[in-house]
Amino acid sequence: MPGRPANILRLFPLTAGVDDGELRLGGLTARELLDAHGSPLVVYDEATVRAQARAYRAAAPDAFVCYGAKAFPNVALMRILAEEGIGADVSTAGEFRFAEAAGITGERLVVHGNNKSDEELGAAATAGSLVVVDSLEEVVRARETGVARTLIRVTPGIDADTHEAIRTAHHGSKFGLPPDDALEALRLAPETEGLHVHVGSQLLDSGAALMAVDWMATFAARARAELRWELRTIDLGGGLGVPTSLDDPQLDVEAFVPALLAELERACEQQDIPHPGVVLEPGRSLVGRAGVTLYRVGAVKETAAGRTWVAVDGGLSDNPRPALYGARYAALLANRADEPPHGTYAVAGKHCESGDVLIDRVELPEPRRGDILAVPATGGYTLAMGSNYNAVPRPAVVLVRDGNATVIRRRETIDDLLALESY
Ligand SMILES: Cc1ncc(COP(=O)(O)O)c(C=O)c1O
Repeated sequence: MPGRPANILRLFPLTAGVDDGELRLGGLTARELLDAHGSPLVVYDEATVRAQARAYRAAAPDAFVCYGAKAFPNVALMRILAEEGIGADVSTAGEFRFAEAAGITGERLVVHGNNKSDEELGAAATAGSLVVVDSLEEVVRARETGVARTLIRVTPGIDADTHEAIRTAHHGSKFGLPPDDALEALRLAPETEGLHVHVGSQLLDSGAALMAVDWMATFAARARAELRWELRTIDLGGGLGVPTSLDDPQLDVEAFVPALLAELERACEQQDIPHPGVVLEPGRSLVGRAGVTLYRVGAVKETAAGRTWVAVDGGLSDNPRPALYGARYAALLANRADEPPHGTYAVAGKHCESGDVLIDRVELPEPRRGDILAVPATGGYTLAMGSNYNAVPRPAVVLVRDGNATVIRRRETIDDLLALESY
């Protein structure tokens, strides 16, 4: 196999390979998948999801690991994760219901949200789930609603090296409580079980996360000294990133998680506080690499400025990350995966918006109408953040394993969209 597919395959799921020029996922070619299920299509590889879940469980055997469901709330995937011993972090009533549908309830749930409704707090109280309190007024509301187990989310003022929209622990964040307010929350609710921090998402180095661990141990020592409050549980959030382009560094669960836990142990010893129970909330790193989006190539056109556009049959509606965050992706022409590149192309979606650019620059063999473009590492925060812009129905999602594909979310239809209209 020439070097190029081998290189790009590191961004694809574990079962990805190229046979006779055809990209295979979970034992099926991209062509077979699109012929059977239509285009565009989001494909998740079960083996990769299970491997990531096992990596977390092995790296942190004593921790409660829960899936940050916002990365992609999907009942079938959440069931698989539950089979691997992973709970769920939910931040809305909708995600709560998805978790319940996957059989994840009660103590297997962590309930988030910077603006929880009474209904959301009530559901958490009834289920007996751990609630992460996000404001001073919520300390009181949680107690009044009968929530028994709480953590206080703290914003230490750490700027993670990631896009500002997914940075969450800086001064001025809409999430969590600044340190003095967090102390006040502990004063108001000394029964609070512990603290929560999430520095940001798509972290490709561990610096900010390690700093946050240190900061939290120091803060817990301060709470102990000032309030005689004891940290019993610490939730370190999620954040581990997934490379989406060949320029991105790779940070594995096997390196990131032990480093966090070792730092926690060291910081607790240094602060002379007991070692707390640990909760982790990975989202993207559980499902990101497992997902691949397959598109059909449509129009290919060269512009006067010398840029050649390759238009595909999806875009902003199934993956808004390039437009929202400037996220960069790689791509492979899945039906001619062993051909050498012919040039550099820009990949556009089909939406009526010039910002609907999936990939700014990618080397490909000369693309033709009908070719299949595979975009790897699209399992997290892609379809989950999708929309129906331009009344475009969202793609189907299949789970592949050992040569079989199971539909885990059916394709939306235009009739589905029209059914919401009153006319
Ligand atoms: C509180 C919290 N926990 C967990 C996550 C999951 O993060 P990630 O998908 O980066 O692992 C997020 C995402 O932003 C979050 O806000």
